[in-house]
Amino acid sequence: MKRTHYCAEVLEDCEGKLVVVCGFVQKVRNIGNLLFIDLRDRTGVLQLTFNETTPPEVFKEAEKVRAEFVLVVKGVVKSRIAVNKALKTGAVEVFVSFMEVLSTAETTPFEIKDDVNAREELRLKYRYLDLRRKELMDCLFFRNEVTFLTRDFFKKNGFLEVETPILVKSTPEGARDYLVPSRVHPSNFFALPQSPQLYKQILMVAGIDRYMQIARCFRDEDLRADRQPEFTQIDLEMSFVDEDDIMALNERFISELFAKMLNVNLEIPFKRISYIEAIGRFGVDKPDMRFDLELVDLTSGLMKTEFLIFKAAIDGGGCVKAINVKGAADFLSRKEIEKLAEITEVHKAKGIAYTRISESGETSSYEKFLSAKEIGYIRGQMGVDKGDVVLIIADSNSEIVANALGNLRVFLAEKLNLIKKNTFSILWVTDFPLLEFDEEKSGFSAVHHPFTAPNQEDIELLEINPIKVRSRAYDLVLNGTEIGGGSIRISKPQLQHRLFELLGIGQEEAEAKFGFLLEAFRFGVPPHGGMAYGLDRLVMLMLQRDSIKDVMAFPKVQNSSELMSSCPSQVEKKSLEELGISIVGEKGF
Ligand code: AMO
Repeated sequence: MKRTHYCAEVLEDCEGKLVVVCGFVQKVRNIGNLLFIDLRDRTGVLQLTFNETTPPEVFKEAEKVRAEFVLVVKGVVKSRIAVNKALKTGAVEVFVSFMEVLSTAETTPFEIKDDVNAREELRLKYRYLDLRRKELMDCLFFRNEVTFLTRDFFKKNGFLEVETPILVKSTPEGARDYLVPSRVHPSNFFALPQSPQLYKQILMVAGIDRYMQIARCFRDEDLRADRQPEFTQIDLEMSFVDEDDIMALNERFISELFAKMLNVNLEIPFKRISYIEAIGRFGVDKPDMRFDLELVDLTSGLMKTEFLIFKAAIDGGGCVKAINVKGAADFLSRKEIEKLAEITEVHKAKGIAYTRISESGETSSYEKFLSAKEIGYIRGQMGVDKGDVVLIIADSNSEIVANALGNLRVFLAEKLNLIKKNTFSILWVTDFPLLEFDEEKSGFSAVHHPFTAPNQEDIELLEINPIKVRSRAYDLVLNGTEIGGGSIRISKPQLQHRLFELLGIGQEEAEAKFGFLLEAFRFGVPPHGGMAYGLDRLVMLMLQRDSIKDVMAFPKVQNSSELMSSCPSQVEKKSLEELGISIVGEKGF
């Protein structure tokens, strides 16, 4: 018997029709000579009805049915007397004349319903059961539509989807690689790609001109709510373009996606702010602009202060910065502010100085140490009114101030409900520094990757003041999360060599690591650039979900394992022998 309809397709226009539907049993209600089964498939739920008109053998069979049994049923669609408004199919029911139990089911470890309250580990172990829930099923449908629209958009714009290998030479994206031992080449390893970066650049050398790929990437890094060790990128590269071309095309892509998927209008062109401005105003390089709470630099007005904490910070080359939490005096008691200091401590700040102006009076942890002029200056700069709380962080390291206040800003916005629901704030962050000083290596590292081009205007600074050199990289930030990033690449071998030198990558190392790319460039390379989105992250944010796991079919957990199949797992001794690998000790040491 073949299905004629999905459950949610059985609507009033089917009245009187004989339909065949298949699915899982959501619920059985047996009230004597009347029995209802809610049948669920990937589209929704449909009520099946069994009564005195049902053939007795079918009724008998229906009485044995339990939750999650798999059924195929045939019956006539009738309109319901009492309409169930909560169901799309709530105006109809199917009077069953034939039913076959295709599979019985054991009692599931948790009930399959919308507001499930089972532990996450249990739900991940039985992921296939969790995916039966509409909430997660809808996420997969949404994601599917996003990937479809993505391919469609880029195809229409002349992009070619090219699959790049999964067993690759290690790519320089900065995270740890997952390694795969080679049987044929003992003691040699493939890496799983952190991104298709080098291959997509090679495709430009091959003349592909416009490449895209929905690409799996692997990074052995710690998990977070928006980070998984295995994830998917929407990856692009284009020849003969500059950053404006790439940004303009991607603005069209993202705004079309939001319009079609969410009916949300994102105004083009997107806002752009430089890295320096982002850090200055928001403390972080991925600012959430859905709320204010901007950082204010108070350093210049406090240059002569006698207050030791501010003075030490300024004299040490750092800064004094503040935020004004408007109208928060009632919520932020002194105790609460002390708790906030615990948060900023994580970001290495030594404490928070505050002034709190509540109805019952003013309290300040620092004003008694300042001159009247300095107090007036701070209050003026911060636009202080009754009900406000000014929070100040000072440190001889400006990065600590920015980072601590930037994170505090986001924490407070969430705590005080300053973030408007259903709003999307998108912006480009540009002009990132090309290099950063890596204490561990005691040398420079690339902020983006070693193939990102320096800003033309800063090239002469490369050897004089490397830290001041801006790159031609850009990030796309949605609601305070980086959803994508990219750059214009270096396509001049000489410039690439200067960069390698600055990064402490010698000729030999460069040859060993990326020799194939450098060699390819010797045979004619178009100027090129591109970017990549985190598809999972993008979908998570579009759906306003808190966890990236919700939009992945089989995500991994905190310790990077996958609970359903229990991997990673040990392998047979023979497999290890073939690979020439021996495990030394429990931890492999
Ligand atoms: P980048 O490393 O910035 O750039 O990655 C691009 C985007 O991928 C997403 N992303 C992740 N998503 C989930 N889990 C992770 N562990 C994870 N890591 C990154 C982010 C990020 O913005 N090859 C370059 C792109 C280019 O230059 O063209 C690259 O991979 O949303």
